[in-house]
Amino acid sequence: MFEIKKRDGLARIGEFTTPSGTVETPAIMPVINPNFELISTEKLKEEFDIQVLITNSYIIYQSEELKEEALEEGIHSMLDFSGPIMTDSGTFQSHVYGDVVVEPEEILSFQKKIGSDISTILDEFTEPDETELDAEKKMEKTVQRAKKAKEEFAGKEGHTAFPIQGSVYPHLRERCGELMKELDGDFYPIGGVVPLMEDYKFSELVKVIVSSKKGLGAKGPVHLFGAGHPMIYSLAVLLGCDLFDSSSYAKYAKRGDLMYPEGTKNLSDLEHLGCECPVCTSHTTEELKDLSEDKREELLAEHNLWISRKEMEKVKQSIVEGTLWELVERRVRGHPELLKTLKVLDDRYEYLEKFEPRSRKRALFDTGSETYWRPAIKRIQDWIMSEYEPPADGPTILFEMDQDKKPYNRHLREELGSMEDHELNYLVETPIGPVPLEMDEIYPVAQSIFSSDKMPEKLLTRYKERKDIDNMIRWEGKKTLDSLSQPHQEGISFDEMKIKTTADYQFCKEAGKVLTDGTLEFVKNNKGRIKNVMLDGEHILSVRHYDGFFTLKKPGAQILWAKLSSPKMRIEVTDESAKFNSEGKNVFAKFVTEMSGELRPGDEAIVVTQDDEIAATARVFLTKEEVQAFKRGLAARTREGFET
Ligand code: GUN
Ligand code: ZN
Repeated sequence: MFEIKKRDGLARIGEFTTPSGTVETPAIMPVINPNFELISTEKLKEEFDIQVLITNSYIIYQSEELKEEALEEGIHSMLDFSGPIMTDSGTFQSHVYGDVVVEPEEILSFQKKIGSDISTILDEFTEPDETELDAEKKMEKTVQRAKKAKEEFAGKEGHTAFPIQGSVYPHLRERCGELMKELDGDFYPIGGVVPLMEDYKFSELVKVIVSSKKGLGAKGPVHLFGAGHPMIYSLAVLLGCDLFDSSSYAKYAKRGDLMYPEGTKNLSDLEHLGCECPVCTSHTTEELKDLSEDKREELLAEHNLWISRKEMEKVKQSIVEGTLWELVERRVRGHPELLKTLKVLDDRYEYLEKFEPRSRKRALFDTGSETYWRPAIKRIQDWIMSEYEPPADGPTILFEMDQDKKPYNRHLREELGSMEDHELNYLVETPIGPVPLEMDEIYPVAQSIFSSDKMPEKLLTRYKERKDIDNMIRWEGKKTLDSLSQPHQEGISFDEMKIKTTADYQFCKEAGKVLTDGTLEFVKNNKGRIKNVMLDGEHILSVRHYDGFFTLKKPGAQILWAKLSSPKMRIEVTDESAKFNSEGKNVFAKFVTEMSGELRPGDEAIVVTQDDEIAATARVFLTKEEVQAFKRGLAARTREGFET
């Protein structure tokens, strides 16, 4: 019922199907108060293009009149909205008022009876200041209720939301996520987070989201319960949240607050609105201040919804562009407590890296010092520090360079003259640390713009500590070459270095060695850039012009397959699927029987049968974990089928 259409890391544009229609995620679900219509549902649909609403079944249930109406005509007719409607269960009232007077079974079956598209079990709200023991009991009780709901309603119309609870204890959140995942539900809110948002405890919030997601795996959609402020949308979507309910637009309006992606401002402090929404372009601050209280509340609520909607659009466009990290880095500057969350993410690098593409279509932009913590940068740094094998036997020459000399190798080749006469390794000081010169055209080394040319010094120190680096010489012009003792006539060529190192980084260790084991030839463009790589006369690799990585041609895939002991680029499919894939058709999650855990979204992979017969090369869309979680949708895009 949930399918990923586009993605950037954990963030995703998805399609969630309900009995009343399909919702494109990430999306906002405005909260409708059944007692009080602030903005009509018709207006929400027509003007605000709202696809899905949420209302509270407990409020309806408590009022004889509303209850009767809902049971008689159904929730859609009652709210005059034919699209998907989610209902909540009364748990939040227990957080606000301390108690709810309804049996869990009763409120769930009531939601089903009134035709809710997504009913919510009566979960136990875990407060942030709860003891671990209490939080654990409530978490377990919530899971028990989900289990009962599953037994009673599985296979019937409408979804049931299984909230993740566990207070601020990461292991409880993760455990709750795992238990809910085992129940194989179809909608997962992260609950108990409203107090964290109200108190600006965003670091705690991020920890809660990440540990819940870890437990849940790729299951979705994931809904962040009560997250209605646009200032956290980008961050929450970056971490894999898909839906946001919001009563904030109304609550804030009631107290005269205008929401912006950068924060909140009270109308009484405003002389300039600084907003282009229909409300702000047709009113001045004075006019808004002079309105009746009801009218003002309505208009501020509309402003708040416009802003929320616009921000979500921006988030979605950033997913399409692959620029969501940049948007997040800008947004978190709205409040120091938000900015702190980037450190929390840095501490969770190993988890985030699993979803991080090796390359993106657009250049990486530096937005400030925290950019250096991005998984895209840490990954290549880590690899250079611990996996890279300098291709030549001789010393390493270290170059100091400015970014405007990118790609560095073309610049240096002129200075160095022939790079084939010496057994040398070349290292460039770049803003992301020391980078082997032969890696300088791959993402994000070439495809990035930093505000400073300065290299983090500690990274060079770390590099020098490597065991295989014993001799490093700083480049001081041509005389550096003359000072080297023995020119070596059979040094490895720079082009070969490039193929070897790129293949090792992109595919796996040893890949570079087997792909260069023979006579190499190159097809180059008019700027001297390698386009195609031939080994012993066969076209094995093409170079992607936008990120410097390879696409695998059939002979290249065959070499990797025949010569590597444990290739980490394997997607195993059923025989039936293999037949289609060998004809060039895409690989679907349903037919994938096994997949390498090392494959990241966007990676080049080899599609094989269970007997290890090569069927195709393909570009990965879902990770192993995601393929296991989704029984539908695209797993990889076939590049080339290997028809026999
Ligand atoms: N609304 C805001 N937080 C929560 C929560 O934790 N559970 C439910 N059911 N509703 C909420
Ligand atoms: Zn406005």
